[in-house]
Amino acid sequence: MFKMKKAMLQALLFSAFAVVSPLQAIADETPIIRYADRFVPIIAKNGMVASQEAIATKVGVDILKQGGNAVDAAVAVGFALAVTFPQAGNIGGGGFMMVHLAKDNKTIAIDYREMAPAAAHRDLYLDENGDVDNRRARFSHQSAGVPGTVAGLIHALENYGTMTLKQVIAPAVALAEDGFTLAYSLESSLLARKERLSRNPAAKKALFKPDGSHYQFGETLKQPDLAQTLKAIRDKGFDGFYKGSVADLIVKEMKANDGLITHKDLENYKVVEREAIKGSYKGYDVLTMPPPSSGGVHIVQMMNMLENDNLKDLGHNSAASLHLMIEAMRQAYADRSEYLGDPDYFDVPIKELIDKKYAAKLRTQIPNKKARKSEEVKPALDVTPESPDTTHFSVMDNEGNAVSNTYTLNFSYGSHIMVSGAGFLLNNEMDDFSAKVGVANAYGLLGAEANAIEAGKRPLSSMTPTLVLKDGKAFMATGSPGGSTIITVVLQVLMNALEHEMNVAAATYAPRIHHQWYPDRILVEPGISADTKALLEAWGHNLDNRRRTIGSTQSIQFRDGFFYGASDSRRHGALTLGY
Ligand code: DON
Repeated sequence: MFKMKKAMLQALLFSAFAVVSPLQAIADETPIIRYADRFVPIIAKNGMVASQEAIATKVGVDILKQGGNAVDAAVAVGFALAVTFPQAGNIGGGGFMMVHLAKDNKTIAIDYREMAPAAAHRDLYLDENGDVDNRRARFSHQSAGVPGTVAGLIHALENYGTMTLKQVIAPAVALAEDGFTLAYSLESSLLARKERLSRNPAAKKALFKPDGSHYQFGETLKQPDLAQTLKAIRDKGFDGFYKGSVADLIVKEMKANDGLITHKDLENYKVVEREAIKGSYKGYDVLTMPPPSSGGVHIVQMMNMLENDNLKDLGHNSAASLHLMIEAMRQAYADRSEYLGDPDYFDVPIKELIDKKYAAKLRTQIPNKKARKSEEVKPALDVTPESPDTTHFSVMDNEGNAVSNTYTLNFSYGSHIMVSGAGFLLNNEMDDFSAKVGVANAYGLLGAEANAIEAGKRPLSSMTPTLVLKDGKAFMATGSPGGSTIITVVLQVLMNALEHEMNVAAATYAPRIHHQWYPDRILVEPGISADTKALLEAWGHNLDNRRRTIGSTQSIQFRDGFFYGASDSRRHGALTLGY
C-alpha cells in the first residue's frame, strides 16, 4: 500500500515538474530535498554558478557551456562583476579563491589579498594625538592596499583554467564598453551612495549621468574608461594592470592625493598559493581559506567545538544549540584578536587553533544554560606565539571541479575613490589592519601585534570561501560578504547543511545570529522565535534584535549527480543558474 502510494506520488510529481530533478532525490530518499523543506534550491545537471549579480552569473554559465571549466567560469564571473557589481566586484581590490581540481584530487587556496604599500607603517593612521584618523584609514587614497584581484584571477586562469584570458575577459569588456541594463539592486545601491561617490569626480563621471543624477532601473550604464583598462589587461595580462598606462594612472592618482602606492608597489604585487585549512566534520572534509584570512581557522575551530554535541538533536536554532554556537563564536573571535594576521609576517599558530584537542578543552569551559561575559573569555592557547561590500561566488562544473571565491573592496564601493581615467574604484582594505591596539576597526574587530600595519603585509580578513568534500569529491561551495559576520554566516550555512541535513536553499534562508566577542552582544535576525530568544536572555545572553540581515551567501552542492544551488534571499539581484 505504502509502495503504491509512493509510486503514484512520484508519477504525479514527475508529470507536474518534468524538468525538475529533485524528484530523483525524492525517489532515492536522499535527505537533500525532503517533503518538509519549505525551500527548494535551483537544480541543474551540467554545472552551476551562484553569484550576487545575475548578468555575471549568466556570463559564468555561458563559459561552462562553451566547455570552460569551473576556474574559467569563475575568472569570467570575477571580471564581469567588476563591471556589473561595482559595490564589491572589482579590479581595484583583492580576495581569496579556493579551487578543487577533481583530476588531481587537489585543493588550492589562492591568496590575492591587497598588500600594504612600502610606505605604510604601524602608526600610519594615528593623528598628532595618537588617535586613529578613521577618515584617512577608510575614505582616503591612503586607505588603499595594492590591489590583488587582477593578479589573482590571472594566476588562477593560467594555472588551473583551460581558456585564454582573452576569452574569459571578453564578456566583461563588452559589458563595460556596450553597457548593461540596470537592475533594481544597482539602482538602489548607487542611489544610497550617491552623495559620497559624487564627491570623487572620477566616480561621479563613471557611475552617474552627466547631470549628476543616478541611472535607473532599465537604463544602460556604459563604463568606457573601465573598458580601456580591461582591454589593457586582456592584451598584456599582469603587465596590463601593474605596469604601463594603467599603473601610470594609479600612481598619478596617488601622487596627486597624498596616496602611498608607487610603481614599485604595483610591480611587486604577489599572488600566494597557500596550504588550505583542512578540518573534518562528521565524515565531511572542510577545506577553507588560511591566513591572512581568519575565516578558515575559526570555521574549523568552531566546528570542532560543536562536533560532539549533536546539535541536530538539540534542534536547529533552538536556544540550546544557539547557546553552544554563540559561546564557540565568542571564543573564536577572542582568539582571532590575538593570534591571527598575515602568516608571512606573524607566526600564526594554525595547527594549535584547529586542533580537536584544543576545541575539546574549550568546550569544557562552556557553561550549561549560562552565557559567559566576553571579559571572562580570553584568547586561550597555551602557546605564546613568537614574533613580534565584499561579494562571493561559487562555481561547479561537470568534471567535479569547484571554485569558491570571495573578493572585495572592503566597504561597499571601497574608499569611494576612483582612479581617474582608469574607471575602477580603490579598495579601503587598509582599515582591516589593527590601526592601534585596543581600537576596533569598522567592523568592531579588535586586533594587536599580529595584525599591526607593516610595509608589504596583508591585512587580516574575515573572508571565508569554503569547499566541502565528501569522499574526496567536491560536495559544497559556499561563502558570503558581511565583514566580521562572514565567518559566523559560513559556519551556520555549513552546520545547517552538514549537521541539520538541510538542502542548500533551506540552509541559506534559515535565520542567522552573530557574535564576535566584542561588542558583547548577539545580532539576531528576524525569524528566531520569541521563545528561543527568551530562553537565551534568561541564560544571560545579550541580544540585539534591531531588524537587520546578516550575510549574503552563494552556495552550490553536488550530490547524487545533480547540482543544487541557492543565492541568498537577503539581498536583491543575485542569481544561481545551472544548465
Ligand atoms: O576582508 C574582510 O574581512 C573585509 N574587508 C570584508 C568586507 C566585507 O565583507 C564587506 N561586505 N559586506
